[in-house]
Amino acid sequence: MAVRTRVQSQMHGDSSDYDYSSFYYSSSDDVFAILEPYTEWYDDAQLRGYYLYGQPMSSRPTTRIELQEKLEQRRLNLLNLSSYNYLGLSYRPEVIEAAKRALDRYGMGAAGSPVLSGTMDVHIELERELAAFKNKPACMLFPTGYSTNVGLIQGLMRPGDLIVADQNSHASIVDGAILSKAEVRFFRHNRPEELEKKLKGWDGKKMVVVEGVYSMDGDVCKLPEIVAIAKKHEARIMIDEAHSTFIYGENGRGVAEAFGLEDEIDIHVGTLSKALGGQGGFVAGSASLYKYLEGFARSRLFSCALSPVVSGGVLEALRIAGREPGLRARLWANVAHIRRLMREEGIDVGESTSQVIPVMIRNDRRIFDVAHRLQRAGLYLQPIVYPAVAKHRSRFRISVSATHTTDQLNEGVSILAHVLREEGIL
Ligand SMILES: Cc1ncc(COP(=O)(O)O)c(C=O)c1O
Repeated sequence: MAVRTRVQSQMHGDSSDYDYSSFYYSSSDDVFAILEPYTEWYDDAQLRGYYLYGQPMSSRPTTRIELQEKLEQRRLNLLNLSSYNYLGLSYRPEVIEAAKRALDRYGMGAAGSPVLSGTMDVHIELERELAAFKNKPACMLFPTGYSTNVGLIQGLMRPGDLIVADQNSHASIVDGAILSKAEVRFFRHNRPEELEKKLKGWDGKKMVVVEGVYSMDGDVCKLPEIVAIAKKHEARIMIDEAHSTFIYGENGRGVAEAFGLEDEIDIHVGTLSKALGGQGGFVAGSASLYKYLEGFARSRLFSCALSPVVSGGVLEALRIAGREPGLRARLWANVAHIRRLMREEGIDVGESTSQVIPVMIRNDRRIFDVAHRLQRAGLYLQPIVYPAVAKHRSRFRISVSATHTTDQLNEGVSILAHVLREEGIL
């Protein structure tokens, strides 16, 4: 079969002019026709250094990591400013011990859906402690943060309903909304007045979806204004606090706590994969919401329950985060320090005010050259390009951890500033 795609007919040899959007469609009627040109692009991009993803780590995700560099097959020791491990809990000895105890007791997997044979007492204990932490009547575990949003939104919303979500919503929110077949509208990022325009005139059921801290820009949701507008239009409100749970608020309950708005929000989502250093996600809310989702959230219903090993480790991580508020304080001191250094260097961090700090490059091709130089200079920062962010909004994303030392933060910013200067970006 002749394999021709729209891309091939336009390709002029330089893989860096193409990205994922060039490979959605092919003009052939064979489903596999897209694979060959995509592979050609992928291999060429990798060879030329424009594909830097999936480089395997051979160490724990601490502040220094061992990385197997793909292009030249070298093992690198790098300063890590790219991990979600905001509190350093994934490798805390007590967490590892708790996970080992769970492994000994339950074995590796749950071996069943949570509604059939997969629920173990460690899941119930974790759900209870998460509900108590979030100050909510109930909390439901999901296998990942991604499947939490997908299952929750698809489980609750129906054709004929309206979902209004921030334009910068995580893919899991977008995918859940699409799957629900409800009407989906996106409002301009963090612009409450735009939210109002999208809600106006809709008679049926509505839900507003926002994030506490936006995962790619590190800015905080304008929650007070958003809540006021949602209430005025009688819409339910869901907040995804993937990057703000255990980080924001006096007790670490997130941005909703920080704004004193927890009771105004109907559904609270969080992940166990970021500050707690594990895996999984949760929905905290009413007992009736729990019961309904048990029957209707298909990403949970038709998927194996969270591993009991991870659940045991996460339970310990949750307890540590609760009894050691100093971890959060250290994280915020580190955030203040690195922000000051970056400001002094004149590095463009966009709108970030959190521990997620973008280094705006805004050039989808040059960012890979910069990434290579950073890596060679000893700094691990991942280039983030379309489709994770809009085209021409490429950036590196710094994730600060409570476990970075001041010297490491100094070293990281010094490498970054040096490379950006050499590249003519600063
Ligand atoms: C806002 C947001 N929600 C959900 C997720 C998905 O979480 P997980 O990686 O635990 O599946 C992410 C992941 O980065 C996220 O940033």
